[in-house]
Amino acid sequence: MAELGSDIQKAAALLRAGELVAIPTETVYGLAANAMDQSALVKIFSVKNRPAFDPLIVHVSETAAFTHYAEDIPSIALSLASEVCPGPVTFIFRKKPVVPDLVTSGHATVGLRVPDHALTLELLKSLPFPLAAPSANPFGFVSPTCAMDVQEQLGEAIPYILDGGPCRIGLESTIIDFSGSDPQILRLGGLSLEFIEDRLQRPVRVRTSSSSPRAPGMLSSHYNPGKKVLVGNITELVEKLAGQKVGVLAFRQAIPGLPTDNQRILSLSGDLQEAARNFFRMLREFRTLPVDLVLAEKLPEVGLGRAINDRLRRAAADTDTRPQAGLSPGE
Ligand code: TXA
Ligand code: MG
Repeated sequence: MAELGSDIQKAAALLRAGELVAIPTETVYGLAANAMDQSALVKIFSVKNRPAFDPLIVHVSETAAFTHYAEDIPSIALSLASEVCPGPVTFIFRKKPVVPDLVTSGHATVGLRVPDHALTLELLKSLPFPLAAPSANPFGFVSPTCAMDVQEQLGEAIPYILDGGPCRIGLESTIIDFSGSDPQILRLGGLSLEFIEDRLQRPVRVRTSSSSPRAPGMLSSHYNPGKKVLVGNITELVEKLAGQKVGVLAFRQAIPGLPTDNQRILSLSGDLQEAARNFFRMLREFRTLPVDLVLAEKLPEVGLGRAINDRLRRAAADTDTRPQAGLSPGE
């Protein structure tokens, strides 16, 4: 099992020695390594069982560091960054040669992000290198939003988890690609499309499909909670599946006539931020509930609702073709 604690010096010493450390961010927990150290990077891919074609985000302590690792940074990106960083957004720019190809999976671009978490910012400031960090879950499974989630899934494989409490946002960062002529969103996430379009003063194309070569990691099948997931109008789904042992992941209210123990409500008040914060934790809980499948309600397609719906679609995608292991390695 990994040691859990909030000792930044310990985390820093392990990272300097080329080890992996799980780190808290405002979005989800990350599995961090020295982004400049090839052999530490290899450990990330092997511990996560992540395909080498899926590039890693590089975490830095301030936007001023973007120019160390990227070039051709458009001024609209810099002004957006100055407003939203630290925050739940990843910027894709053309990379400088200093960034190892392992980080970018050989692509000409690099993803940069300033996470908004006091412990991790202090850690980054204390290190002479940036941190490459994917979400701290085995590839294809649900992202971790607290230290114990990481312990359950990867605790056997890493020495230390920097425990920064539950994640404030609960969904991964929004990824915006500024490497082409027009900015494009490659992953919906913690910063809403509406906010971004408002700040950039233009409509922004969302290209999150797995067929897009610009978003190599956006596989249609992802976020596997270990149970089959169906998304749609819950009342209709419940009627259609009468007699089956179903769990319900609803937005605001439980479905009458079904055991409440097998239902999870994302936000009784209909608050999309609260729903986002609860989303991955509740999705995980179905793994141990006595249900055969999970019926999930589609959320309003606005703000963080879009990002939650995107993850629901991926959680529901071709479950049968994915590894049927549970959430932790070895199951
Ligand atoms: O909120 C987050 O972004 C979290 C925390 C830990 O920072 N990290 C995260 O990492 O979600 P990960 O590896 O689970 O997802 C990163 C996504 C992948 O889909 C990857 O393909 C994409 O970012 N990505 C990274 N670099 C890229 C690049 N140069 N071009 C296109 N996509 C990139
Ligand atoms: Mg991930």
